Amino acid sequence: MKKYLISSILLLSTSLVFAQKQESSGFTPGKLWLDNKGVHINAHGGGILFHNKTYYWFGEHKVEGEEGNKAMVGVHVYSSKNLTQWKDEGIALSVVEDTTSLLVKGCIIERPKVIYNKKTKTFVMWFHHELKGQGYKAALTGLAISKKITGPYQYIKSINPNAGNWPMNFPDSFKKADPKLNVEGMKWKSPEGQKLLAEGYFVRRDYSKGQMARDMTLFVDDDGKAYHIHSSENNQTLHFAELTDDYQNFTGKYTRVLEGKANEAPAIFKKDGKYYMISSGTTGWDPNPARLSVADHIQGPWKELGDPSRGTEAQNKTTFWSQSTYIIPVMGKKNAFIYMGDRWTPKNAIDGRYIWLPILFEDGKPILRWFDQWDLSIFL
Ligand code: DGJ
Repeated sequence: MKKYLISSILLLSTSLVFAQKQESSGFTPGKLWLDNKGVHINAHGGGILFHNKTYYWFGEHKVEGEEGNKAMVGVHVYSSKNLTQWKDEGIALSVVEDTTSLLVKGCIIERPKVIYNKKTKTFVMWFHHELKGQGYKAALTGLAISKKITGPYQYIKSINPNAGNWPMNFPDSFKKADPKLNVEGMKWKSPEGQKLLAEGYFVRRDYSKGQMARDMTLFVDDDGKAYHIHSSENNQTLHFAELTDDYQNFTGKYTRVLEGKANEAPAIFKKDGKYYMISSGTTGWDPNPARLSVADHIQGPWKELGDPSRGTEAQNKTTFWSQSTYIIPVMGKKNAFIYMGDRWTPKNAIDGRYIWLPILFEDGKPILRWFDQWDLSIFL
């Protein structure tokens, strides 16, 4: 028995050392990714904040089984100096037992992103928030703040943003609020559905109560202005919304982007003055081909550039079996960006894998290629 115990401990420690060695030598997309405690990183739908020479990775903490698709714990945070070895910094935002709180255990928290507000010296987290027992109906965006990057974050509110404001690129002729508009069962891809969308059906319906906000990201521009970018209008159109100077509210200035094109999972980066977005289509937890778009201004107009994947047909069809969540600018390297995607495993949510790939440029266009293993030396 003693002998068996010793050999199992030895085996475990060798595999840990091996796994950690693998991590320090680079990225191995899709493989288990162990943190400093030897546990697979638990930060899905995540985003990265670089602060004080350290990267912080915030993401959804999942538990085992299908239950893990709900928020049973909260938002997990890890830190790293080199993007490959991550230290567990604990739970940044916790769900609560209090059933009167919107943040009650069993609600849905997805795609948390954190940005730092220099003026207020506050870390600001926004996340897609759905209410317990209501599926994806509420389409809220939640706000939590902290003076310390790793938290604990204090939950502030969840809202449907931009209530009482029309999109900046909405023609005057469409500006008729109509909360009673109801077209149950509409096929949004049909000509009739597309017409309704083009005429801003959801924007008009939700004008007074605020717009729907599901898959989201945050982007801070060089001038310090921050934008909350989310799938709105029943996931049919993206909204690019400006945040107030403290990043804790919406200014009401927002644009509709790629109307009726059904984009989810927006991830943005800026290179040589141009904004690029990788997003996905809407197929639930299943992957689909990524979409690349470009703009001269963050709030658009955005132009579609097609599929950025350069793999086999099967790889392109599934974006290397992943869905975008964030694009990381690599510090200290020029024009170095990492695509950060999730390989979802909804039947056992905790086992979701991370697909991080270098963004390469071909003919000036960002593209993705598969690597079983790669490291930062790929960037010049
Ligand atoms: C796709 C989204 O991108 C995910 O964040 C999640 O909301 C799933 N849909 C749920 O089906």
